[in-house]
Amino acid sequence: MTDDLLAELRALLAGETDAIANAANTAALVFARLPRLNWVGFYFLQGDTLVLGPFQGFPACTRIPLGRGVCGTAAARNETIVVPDVHAFEGHIACDSASLSEIVVPFAMGGRLAGVLDIDSPVLDRFDESDKILVEAVVRAYAEACDKMFFFEKKNQKTLAS
Ligand code: SME
Repeated sequence: MTDDLLAELRALLAGETDAIANAANTAALVFARLPRLNWVGFYFLQGDTLVLGPFQGFPACTRIPLGRGVCGTAAARNETIVVPDVHAFEGHIACDSASLSEIVVPFAMGGRLAGVLDIDSPVLDRFDESDKILVEAVVRAYAEACDKMFFFEKKNQKTLAS
């Protein structure tokens, strides 16, 4: 399962460097292939706030300050957090009431924190050490495939001439 998913992901990312397109396909693949999930998605760091990116699942909160919730805590610490029971995590932000356990994995670009991949499950204690290793490999493959300028530009929109 693990090797299959990583091989499939690398094939999906090959030849594409757009960070949004790759995040969309990464979230969709993880959601389709890993059992017992209800939400998979990216948050990208903008200043000191994580902003919602491509995801699968119900609509979610759009902005999470660094240090807040599981996502903001994982980002602030720059380390993976596995939460076996979200109700036991102080400050957990509930986006989908079905979520019972969660894993959040930060990723870097050019040595700088760029965002997190957040995965929720409707099952308690869904994520073990092998899932942690797998999801960390998934975000590494994602980050390596993407053009880092997306993450370094302050805004990703061009100003339209009026
Ligand atoms: N539970 C997360 C918020 C994001 S949603 O789960 C999609 C948190 O506590 O940071």
